Amino acid sequence: METVVSGIRSTGNLHLGNYYGAVQNFVKMQHEYNCFFFIADLHSLTTHPTPANLHNNVKQVLVEYLAAGIDPEKATIYVQSDVPEISELYLYMNMNAYLGELERSTSFKDKVRSQPDNVNAGLLTYPVLMAADIIIHKATKVPVGKDQEQHLEMARTFGNRFNRLYNHDYFPEPYAFTFSENLVKIPGLDGKGKMGKSEGEGNAVYLSDTPEAIRKKVMRAVTDSGPTQENQQKPQEIQNLFDLMKVVSSPDTYTHFDDLYNNCSIRYGDMKKQLAEDMIIATAPIREKINEIANDAPYLRQVARYGAVKARESASKTLKEVREIIGFRNF
Ligand code: TYM
Repeated sequence: METVVSGIRSTGNLHLGNYYGAVQNFVKMQHEYNCFFFIADLHSLTTHPTPANLHNNVKQVLVEYLAAGIDPEKATIYVQSDVPEISELYLYMNMNAYLGELERSTSFKDKVRSQPDNVNAGLLTYPVLMAADIIIHKATKVPVGKDQEQHLEMARTFGNRFNRLYNHDYFPEPYAFTFSENLVKIPGLDGKGKMGKSEGEGNAVYLSDTPEAIRKKVMRAVTDSGPTQENQQKPQEIQNLFDLMKVVSSPDTYTHFDDLYNNCSIRYGDMKKQLAEDMIIATAPIREKINEIANDAPYLRQVARYGAVKARESASKTLKEVREIIGFRNF
């Protein structure tokens, strides 16, 4: 059975981008593959969270994984820092990762731009840690959104380099995976780029948002003054709303508003109202479940402990072999 690995950083609540880009696929894949889904708390240290924030965010992602339908009996759910083997493999992989290629990574360049006061070495080697996360379980499929594609390419590069260095066909190649034709990129509500936790207030709709909060955010989404010609191309901010509608609404609803746009009779207020209601319906079961389990500390503890044991079992097997391949031998 093929092995699947994916993770989400513990940097805040999960939004629709995380859900439709990643978690929805986790839930589907758990029935067919040997799945490892983790909370990337080591990755979140690049922004120096306080201990209390770090802990709360880890808990929140765990709650939302479970609420979204990941079943701890089917998939291994764990916290990255509970598996120290990953950090050790990260160290070894760092020896095969070169400054030039790390500096060229798009996510690193973005961070240099967005947090110039905190360009730490952890940011630079972020793709190496991510590679270690994946290859520690010898995964071949990695369900992620479009923004992670380059990181997957780097993971293949580092794994292959290790194989070549030791002349050993050890790590298989991991590929980004989605059930649809293309990797998903969910747009935000600011009329610009993707939905993201750090893209500014009001840009992201969270799985834990109340219906009222969702309505408010969507109604505030950027629009223009409307089409002036039939069948005209949609500007970015309008295309984004249609893209969101494609994900949460029925095909009939989508076609209805698309037709209205194309014959210049669309009222954006109506479209946004419908979009907000469809988002509320799409997220309702998850929201309810979040509220149900958020304070069930014994259950969360049990899931995290059970997951850590299973993840370490798999990780330590790989690490033992890696140490052997590298040449760490007992006297
Ligand atoms: P992170 O925490 O930024 O995002 C988690 C997952 O959500 C997806 N995603 C999106 N998909 C579509 N549209 C969006 N607007 C959107 N925003 C986020 C991301 O593609 C991702 O799948 N480096 C990773 C975490 C990670 C990881 C790994 C993933 C660490 N180690 C190993 C896979 C395998 C990250 O920062 O994701």
